[in-house]
Amino acid sequence: MSEDSLINTASLISPHISLVDASSRAPVKLGIMASGNGSNFEVVAQAIEDGKLNAQIQVLIYNNPSAKAAVRAKNRGVESVLLNHRDYPSREEFDRQIVQTLHQYEVEWVIMAGWMRLVSQVLIDAFPNKMINIHPSLLPSFKGVRAVEQALEAGVKITGCTVHLLCLEMDSGPILMQAAVPVLPDDTPETLHGRIQVQEHRILPLAIALAAQK
Ligand code: GRF
Repeated sequence: MSEDSLINTASLISPHISLVDASSRAPVKLGIMASGNGSNFEVVAQAIEDGKLNAQIQVLIYNNPSAKAAVRAKNRGVESVLLNHRDYPSREEFDRQIVQTLHQYEVEWVIMAGWMRLVSQVLIDAFPNKMINIHPSLLPSFKGVRAVEQALEAGVKITGCTVHLLCLEMDSGPILMQAAVPVLPDDTPETLHGRIQVQEHRILPLAIALAAQK
């Protein structure tokens, strides 16, 4: 990324990101957590392959046995580990196993790319300020599940997506980057989510590059 484009991008991003040229650094070791389709996993992997993100995906953790994200990982030769929350007696026990797995794969930064579970302090404490989440709304509006439906129900004319550092409170924490998306009169949850995902795929790799490559 040229210095000019970094400066132009800087107007969109928060002071939690410092802009440095990371091309000479060792690749950042990422752990990705996903529950479903995994299109955001895919764009991160593609950004790495294209040389736009100086990182490597150490492991994909998924909690849903039928997650398409696991198929995507296999196709890309990325190791994946199924940790099913139903197999654990508490959220903390589940998170302890996640932390152990992330450490086992020497993960430095954790990317929650469609991880549909609340996390406990156990996970946050293990990776302080090194966990990134993506959410399909302009936070702090429309937290939680059904964010796209919430936006349609509220009648907003602009919504979007947010990449932020994770904290205990759901869909909160310092905002790294956002992108706005218009809501069109005939939008359904599917059409609007599709338009939001185009922007998610644009800003997630960029936010990881800018936040993690310090
Ligand atoms: C995305 O819209 C993300 O914002 C939300 O879950 C969805 C995951 O999409 N947290 P995908 O599985 O990456 O396609």
